[in-house]
Amino acid sequence: MHAVFEELSLDLRAHYTYVYLLTFEEERAVRGVREVAKALDRPLYTWSATEGLRGPRARKAEEGTETALGMLDQLAQIDGPGLVIAKDMHRHIEDDQVVRRMRDLRGSLAKAGWGLVMLSPSAVVPPELEKEIVLLHLPLPGLKEVAKLFHALLKGVKIEIDLDTFERFVKASLGLTAEEIKRVYTKVLLRSGTFGDEQLREVISEKRQIIHRSEFLEFFDLDLGIDDVGGLDQLKEWLIARQGSFTERARKYGLPQPKGLFLLGIQGCGKSLTAKAIADLWKVPLLRLDAGALVLAAGSAEEGMRRTIGIAESMAPCILWVDEIEKAFAGVAGGSEGSAAAARIFGGFITWLQEKSAAVFVVATANDVRNLPPEMLRKGRFDEIFWIDLPNIHERHTIFNIHLGKRGRTSEGFDTWKLAEKTEKFSGAEIEQAVIDAMFDAYADDGREFTTHDILRSVRRTVPLARTMDQTIKRLKEWARDRTRPATFDNKRIDFFRDWEAVPGVEDAEA
Ligand SMILES: Nc1ncnc2c1ncn2[C@@H]1O[C@H](COP(=O)(O)OP(=O)(O)OP(=O)(O)O)[C@@H](O)[C@H]1O
Ligand SMILES: [Mg+2]
Repeated sequence: MHAVFEELSLDLRAHYTYVYLLTFEEERAVRGVREVAKALDRPLYTWSATEGLRGPRARKAEEGTETALGMLDQLAQIDGPGLVIAKDMHRHIEDDQVVRRMRDLRGSLAKAGWGLVMLSPSAVVPPELEKEIVLLHLPLPGLKEVAKLFHALLKGVKIEIDLDTFERFVKASLGLTAEEIKRVYTKVLLRSGTFGDEQLREVISEKRQIIHRSEFLEFFDLDLGIDDVGGLDQLKEWLIARQGSFTERARKYGLPQPKGLFLLGIQGCGKSLTAKAIADLWKVPLLRLDAGALVLAAGSAEEGMRRTIGIAESMAPCILWVDEIEKAFAGVAGGSEGSAAAARIFGGFITWLQEKSAAVFVVATANDVRNLPPEMLRKGRFDEIFWIDLPNIHERHTIFNIHLGKRGRTSEGFDTWKLAEKTEKFSGAEIEQAVIDAMFDAYADDGREFTTHDILRSVRRTVPLARTMDQTIKRLKEWARDRTRPATFDNKRIDFFRDWEAVPGVEDAEA
């Protein structure tokens, strides 16, 4: 029995009468409650506004029970003990009379051994009933449940697959409801009748669509690897050291599970890129959380947060990427209108971050911290805060090589050291753009091949953002100095040599 149903059973035995069971999976919940009823040896009734109240073997509803009020009155008439599954109770519970009747009846229903299990996707709890209602969440099916489901399905169609494939399919299905899993597999079966690599891709793409329906989560394809990130050696070393930390072996060894990383840094220097690369390096799915949209989801933000975390946890191990987190939570500290909701979401998020036990690695990125609530960066939330600076000359050299390589050119054809020298204060994104611009220029010029010279020309045309935002960056750097770990080795020494060599033609605003 799933832990939630064990808890439900315990609550019922302890004479809690009203229980909300929060889930989108009605069928699965009903199955679980039925088991509980059997284990407790209590007759099971069901109620919905369309079907009324029906007893264990009744073909017809009890008279006058189409309303929640009628159902409650009827319960008071029937000898307990018993269990009622009430569907969509959140739609009826706010009615004045229902609230009153639930309060009136609580004592006698409890005494008679009645339990009212209210199934609903969201908890609507009138304040008068707050103390009377227990809230339980039914999480999405986990590894074991999905494996069972899949096993039953394979048996049903008499298909045998090896254990490896089995595991991959089970893992790929995490994050879906039981119904969704059944539907996806049925679709796969109808289409091809086998379970191979191609079908696995089908399941994953199906999942992407389903997760897409969660407004706040986006499922990312892993198309960028750690080799696509130039420089940031210290950060990379940290990541590589933790590569296997979500495995069963690491757990047995006693390694703590990494919680998350905070990447703070200048625009276009590879924060988002790194988030994607981690997922590829660790071979886990990447989910992006749109925290900005979540905070703005008036009224349903908390529910959205809970669901989002639920999906992420059910997909563990996975990476939950919260891009530009400062934009979502900037207002929290301000106390402005609407920031109360943001503050609540933020509080919930922070608490989850600190206490989570599921293997969900959070990667938060930010350009700025000034408006972030300071609790965010307190010890215990993230394993490490990395500062991602503008690339130094060595890093720029590597970044040029990476982006030339991506466009099918080898670095031999280019003077990449010269390019690195001439791009002081350029971000990785600006370096990439300089290469692309040069390609367009050359292509427009009779389709000839582009050269170092073309890139240098587009470099000269570019005013790097870091130059126009010099003051802002300086301030941020100042903040970061004692509070973060540099993503790049030995920045100071390289800075020293850079100043010392004073690359001609490039002014140094720091001096
Ligand atoms: N260190 C790097 N190595 C290679 N490419 C880089 C690097 N930094 C940036 N780029 C290039 O620039 C693009 C944009 O970088 P990215 O989106 O990671 O920046 P960011 O730090 O997230 O910026 P923002 O704060 O604006 O979101 C990347 O997709 C990549 O092509
Ligand atoms: Mg980014």
